[in-house]
Amino acid sequence: MDVLRVVGGARLDGRVDVVGAKNSVLKLMAASLLAPGETTIGNLPAISDVTIMRQLLEGMGCGASESRVGAVDRVTIDVPDTLDPEAPYDLVRKIRGSICVLGPLIARTGRAKVALPGGDAIGTRPLDMHFAGLEKMGVEIHIEHGYVVADAPELRGASIWLDFPSVGATENIMTAAVLAKGTTVIDNAAREPEIVDLCRLLVSMGAQIEGIGTSTLSITGVEALHGTSHDAVPDRIVAGTWAMAAVATRGDITVRGAQAHHLEIALDKVVQAGGDVDVRADGFRVRMDDRPKSFDVVTLPYPGLATDLQPQAIAALSVAEGTAMITENLFEARFMFCDEIARMGADVRTDGHHAVVRGREKLSGAPVRATDIRAGVGLVIAGLVADGVTEVAEIHHIDRGYVRFEEQLRALGADVTRVESSTFGS
Ligand code: UD1
Repeated sequence: MDVLRVVGGARLDGRVDVVGAKNSVLKLMAASLLAPGETTIGNLPAISDVTIMRQLLEGMGCGASESRVGAVDRVTIDVPDTLDPEAPYDLVRKIRGSICVLGPLIARTGRAKVALPGGDAIGTRPLDMHFAGLEKMGVEIHIEHGYVVADAPELRGASIWLDFPSVGATENIMTAAVLAKGTTVIDNAAREPEIVDLCRLLVSMGAQIEGIGTSTLSITGVEALHGTSHDAVPDRIVAGTWAMAAVATRGDITVRGAQAHHLEIALDKVVQAGGDVDVRADGFRVRMDDRPKSFDVVTLPYPGLATDLQPQAIAALSVAEGTAMITENLFEARFMFCDEIARMGADVRTDGHHAVVRGREKLSGAPVRATDIRAGVGLVIAGLVADGVTEVAEIHHIDRGYVRFEEQLRALGADVTRVESSTFGS
């Protein structure tokens, strides 16, 4: 059990590169199932979730090979004519995002057996909207022995209204609809850049989709799709993490390979905190010279501020001047992070889906546990602005979504090392 040992006091200064988004790449890889033959996904992040998704696809009969062109990693997935439409629990439980194989499997094989992912440290994550949408398209869904078992004798287009713009539900309905008979209209669809990225992949495979980037998607099914090659959209959450790290540490970070317009609200928060934001064609630079000022946070579906940036924002706010109100509208249990950062002396109180953060001059290093990916990096940022040493345990969460995180921090001047657990034992 490795931990990250973070010595407080560094001002992060330098350049970092951002590659493809975890939350897009996993869906792009799953969507490759829709076409027999080869599909290549570029701008691939070297993270453990990609390895697990690859194993999941291999278990269904696909070949997968990774290669590097210049500095860019790619995976080529070779999809057979006949797929084994089963996603087993031992892999699905490791990445909840693997539920995104449901739509492609139903579309390709008329059936699917996908393990239910189970609980998640950021809160209950029901699948009712996924199921209701697919059922409207003629899919029969049953839960049997911990698996979602789906049968679609005939997949047909339908009008679907989502109660909430769920990313996962939009993706599963969309990937089923591309091969359905007729037109599917998804109203109140999610509009995240990762959804747009998936739409673009599907279109380059031969799908017919209108309304890309809006909350009404209209998808007309085609007979068959073909393999393609596509580079994943840059990871806006990783880019936003570096922005919040610059704010917290009063640093100067240039983020390359990112798209600043995917982070408008987050970068506006940096400005509210007193930072300088310089937007460039291939990314942005955040510079923070003084102690940050507090700013309020309300998480919402895109284009609102991403819930996946909330813990990193709280880490910055914990050392800001003033009091901040945080409203978490997506995943209530995300505030588990607050109990951990409170161990470092942060003044954070939660009540339901609100938190109040009263900024302190400094935090105090302590052993803490990452409860999910974003909480993990939030605690590392907190460790950088704490006196003494912070040991962040359960860092397998960080490895799920951040490429060589500690190496990048070291390149920015931080004293962060991966060590075998000393405090937590085995
Ligand atoms: C995805 C992201 C996650 C991000 C989230 C919101 C991946 C792998 N994960 O998760 O990092 O935090 O989007 O941007 O891409 N809901 C229901 N019923 C459903 C589906 C969702 O009630 O059938 C609720 C959820 O509990 C949550 C909200 O809708 O409160 C949004 O969830 P959703 O957008 O579906 O998130 P995910 O796709 O699971």
